[in-house]
Amino acid sequence: MFLSRRYALRMFLGSLAGTVALGQSCSTNQSSANQSKQNWMADGSSTTPTGETEATLRELASRKGVLYGACAKYPELSSDSEIMVHYARECAVLVPENELKWGELRRSADQFDFRAADWMADFADQQNLLFRGHTLVWNQSIPPWLSDYATPQNAEQLMTDHIKTVMGRYAGRMHSWDVVNEAVQLGQPNHLMQSIWRDRIGPDYIELAFRTAAEADPETMLVFNDNRFEYDSRNAESRRAATLELLGNLKAKGTPIHAFGIQGHLWGHLNHDINYSRYREFLQNVADLGLKILITELDVVDEELPADLNERDRAVAAAYAEYLSVVLDEPAVIAVLTWGLSDRYTWVSSFFPRSDNLPVRPLPLDHNLDRKPAWSAIARAFDQAPQR
Ligand code: XIL
Repeated sequence: MFLSRRYALRMFLGSLAGTVALGQSCSTNQSSANQSKQNWMADGSSTTPTGETEATLRELASRKGVLYGACAKYPELSSDSEIMVHYARECAVLVPENELKWGELRRSADQFDFRAADWMADFADQQNLLFRGHTLVWNQSIPPWLSDYATPQNAEQLMTDHIKTVMGRYAGRMHSWDVVNEAVQLGQPNHLMQSIWRDRIGPDYIELAFRTAAEADPETMLVFNDNRFEYDSRNAESRRAATLELLGNLKAKGTPIHAFGIQGHLWGHLNHDINYSRYREFLQNVADLGLKILITELDVVDEELPADLNERDRAVAAAYAEYLSVVLDEPAVIAVLTWGLSDRYTWVSSFFPRSDNLPVRPLPLDHNLDRKPAWSAIARAFDQAPQR
């Protein structure tokens, strides 16, 4: 297994000869796609897939029946053979950070551009990583043409056609799909976020999206993904309540929804503002609805943390450690995915840059791809997690 996986990576890297231009996208490897049997749980194997003497996050999580993975962007992953090795080594799941969003796939009403997403699906197959879809229905990443084009008359068709085409293309190859992303917004009708989908289709767009998704790929896990549940504020408490109500209503209507995705973008300086017993209860409430839970976009924003590198790394690691010890205590949690793997590439550097302009350090590996205290904190959390 070690040899074949390493060999496959070498062959794959060799075949890339540097960067693969989008125009010469890799062909779909159907046989390995078939081999990547859809499995909602980790395989539980305790062998070291890369043959490293040290365990990897993939392996430590897998021992407990949990999947570890990370997102990546096509331009970065495909041009950086160093980081490819680390994805193949540390991860069991690969998530395209942007490549499956409307804004990337749909440059016009009648065109789909799957080249970047296909490349990532092939990379995942070749490296024996599960592939995960993000995301089909969201209020963001709406291409400019779509806002004018979508009307109350055609919006339902537009959304369902998109779901069928995109999910259909990867059917049988996807571990899970974020069918709907970021839909809860307090203070809005039905606590539903304003979007072209809510406004042109109506509040039932979520149910329709899930029903369409279940038909498009009956094997994959269908996830409702959202954020900002962690903190001990009235706002977060109301978001938790509104989300439980939404999920409960979907389940009561027999909607094919299998899991709840918690993004988990944490703030390093707010670590003490999480009431972990309330949060633990929330996870239990979700599990009681019969849903699995995936932590889908975990990172620790260090925008407001001290400049000192050791102090900052310790605070980021502590945030990971505390959060994961609570989250992994809930057996319904079957996956922990970080939003990136290394500080070399992270959305935090453009979305939450530090005012002192120091490079941000929110992820398990540093800029040089060395393991940070954050990596050790995640590893320890997997090690100490109860078995699924
Ligand atoms: C972010 C990506 O990381 C950025 O590269 C992109 O410019 C904007 O989107 N919640 C989500 C993700 O569900 O899709 C977002 O990803 C981060 C917040």
